[in-house]
Amino acid sequence: MQYTFPKDFLWGAATAAAQIEGGAFEDGREPSIWDVFSRIPGKIKNGDLPDISCDSYHLYEKDIEAMKALGLKTYRFSFSWSRIIPDGTGEVNPAGIQYYKRLIAALKENGIVPNATMYHWDLPYALQIQGGFGNRDCISWFTHYAKVLLDNFGEDVDFWVTFNEPIALYVGHAYGFFAPGLKNEKYARQCLHHLLLCHGEAVKLFRTYGFSKAKIGIVVDVWKHYPDRPGNAEDEAYAVFNNEIAGYGMFLHPLFLGGYSEELNAYLEKNGMVPQMEEGDFETMRQPLDFYGLNFYNGLYDNAEEIRKKEAVLKAGGNYQDQPKQHPEAVRDVLHMLVEKYRIQIPIYITENGLPQEDGPLEEVLDDRERIAYVEQVLIAVHQAIADGIPVKGYYLWSLMDNFEWSAGFSLRYGLHYTDYQTGKRIPKKSAGWYARVIRENGFTIP
Ligand code: NOJ
Repeated sequence: MQYTFPKDFLWGAATAAAQIEGGAFEDGREPSIWDVFSRIPGKIKNGDLPDISCDSYHLYEKDIEAMKALGLKTYRFSFSWSRIIPDGTGEVNPAGIQYYKRLIAALKENGIVPNATMYHWDLPYALQIQGGFGNRDCISWFTHYAKVLLDNFGEDVDFWVTFNEPIALYVGHAYGFFAPGLKNEKYARQCLHHLLLCHGEAVKLFRTYGFSKAKIGIVVDVWKHYPDRPGNAEDEAYAVFNNEIAGYGMFLHPLFLGGYSEELNAYLEKNGMVPQMEEGDFETMRQPLDFYGLNFYNGLYDNAEEIRKKEAVLKAGGNYQDQPKQHPEAVRDVLHMLVEKYRIQIPIYITENGLPQEDGPLEEVLDDRERIAYVEQVLIAVHQAIADGIPVKGYYLWSLMDNFEWSAGFSLRYGLHYTDYQTGKRIPKKSAGWYARVIRENGFTIP
């Protein structure tokens, strides 16, 4: 069977500043919440620190070489707020601007379309100690930062993303295993409300520039939960909770339908967590967008008994080894949901998809046939969705190279390239050769 993608389909790979750049304390950069959080003992696996990571701050030309070898049409990266405006709101750091100017110029020289995210989880720490996203002033902090980015890079970036996976903010404020490490759900809900306002105001600001080519959107990850036993009331309730109240619904509803969903409103009221808001907030959040970025990793099946077992083990201090089955086919259903439930009628890009590997001996990590098999399945489902009429215009594999995987540190490797953290070498894995062929042929054939 041959799977050929539409002409002009954009094949890409993705990374993020805090995960690849390193250069954490160089040329005027100040710490972000992840630099601080990763120094709290026990927060990051093996005590890993993002200080150097792939060292892309110095070695970005090696990244470009890797992109060229793959034949990438587009590259998704993020700006580090702490490098651009080290204290969050004050002086702009010229060295930070120069770094991204060089990166973007190098992409353009090689015909690679830039896709840049303003915020990929790394708030300047100086703003966190003023309340971070819990402080409504974050709207003016963020729009100021967005203005600096748009003034400097506006039309040079084809695809602008305001926020990547806003759910990370919820995880970092309600559960504590992401930065800033708080465990206060009410505060987390307030932060999310403000984040959506930051997004809306940044889009409004973007429109005032009247760019001819540059487009703007947002990236929301969708891990759709299904009841493991359809019809079982408990499984159904878990799925609704995980989708509407603690998952993608928190964002897609206000962004595309307006306001919070009925389920979310009822939950917030019942638990005394309704955020403080002002008139017009929901209108601000719901700005017309040029594209939507879907990060897809898996579909999940909720089984109440399994969930209880897991909670009991966790309560007893155990370490529940959760290895969910892979459901690459779920991406087709998710894409349908975006169009049918959330009425998204703009181009959709898969802005992330990939598979992690545990760290291990080099030869084993290089032989990543599981990644190839998994990505192939996802692409088949995407191909079917396109045939169904869903406007998917591109796909970004996470990630160009192994990098700092947040709380998992360097223990999980997602790259098409193996990163040797001692030497900075990027070594192509089997998947890199495979992906280069897919890009060259604009698809693949399954015998
Ligand atoms: C989501 C995030 O956007 C990215 O930063 C992360 O590394 C990957 N998924 C893999 O977990």
